[in-house]
Amino acid sequence: MYQQYFSKKIAIVTGGGSGIGRALCLRLAAAGAQVICTDINLDNANQTVKAIARNAEAHYLNVTDEAAIIELINEVIGKFGQLDFIFNNAGIAVSGELRDIMISDWKKLMDINFYGVLYGSQAAYQVMLKQGSGHIVNTASAAGLADGLALMAPYSVSKHAVVDYTHILRIEGKALGIRATVVCPGFVDTAIGKSAVEANAKASWKGKALFALKKGVSTDKAATLILRGVAANKETIVFPRKIKLAMRIDQILGGVFKKMMQKELVDFRANYRLPD
Ligand SMILES: NC(=O)c1ccc[n+]([C@@H]2O[C@H](COP(=O)([O-])OP(=O)(O)OC[C@H]3O[C@@H](n4cnc5c(N)ncnc54)[C@H](O)[C@@H]3O)[C@@H](O)[C@H]2O)c1
Repeated sequence: MYQQYFSKKIAIVTGGGSGIGRALCLRLAAAGAQVICTDINLDNANQTVKAIARNAEAHYLNVTDEAAIIELINEVIGKFGQLDFIFNNAGIAVSGELRDIMISDWKKLMDINFYGVLYGSQAAYQVMLKQGSGHIVNTASAAGLADGLALMAPYSVSKHAVVDYTHILRIEGKALGIRATVVCPGFVDTAIGKSAVEANAKASWKGKALFALKKGVSTDKAATLILRGVAANKETIVFPRKIKLAMRIDQILGGVFKKMMQKELVDFRANYRLPD
């Protein structure tokens, strides 16, 4: 019964206005947690809270704004007296070849996917250290575990950073009473593909990504698997099962993902990349 772990606890979720973040808010509230749903899109965060009705509130929060994250956490402590969980979930995607991705796209993505997670974690860590308890949950991706994911460089690099940062946080926080978990999903059926940047690619490349996302696990299933894993204090949560299996095969045989991505790159260059 994972619900007990969250009952009557205070939880902040970033990127709670859509996709996995919204499903986390709904599941956390159903488990009896007080949910602070945050998003850069306040209308969407309000929609999430409306679907919950009780024990939830919406806040505008841009995760690239460190001062705003600290302010929000202080506000939560002032109002509820504690912070038990932060789910640093907000993220964006960029795809394309290294030769086409602009440095400004790298910076934007790293600001959200890595620095946003870092700011949220560090600010929560400071208040949790004073409490002597708390659980920091960072969303990376299966792309943060697999090596050589061509066509996904900024995304994969940012998610590797989140994985390693969270593993280190877990080691350092353990004896101080702080838990840390990193979430590494494969495809989940969300809107992330719609807002993604595709560098120098035809519109059909986005269509291919949207199709893959559509075939992913539902957000509700993802949230349930995440909360179960968090309640079990897992270091790394990987799903669905076929991704877990693929990771194991890659570890044993080596180079499986690299070979897959070489094929994908050939296909991209033949069918999706715009001519120079
Ligand atoms: N969907 C997948 O297949 C998948 C797979 C692995 C990992 N993930 C990760 O899951 C997380 C959630 O993504 P999702 O798939 O639910 O996408 P989504 O686009 O449905 O939701 C992301 C949310 O983050 C918010 N956001 C974007 N920039 C922000 C910022 N600067 N500050 C605050 N909020 C911001 C968006 O407004 C949106 O509500 C991301 O970190 C993503 O990388 C997704």
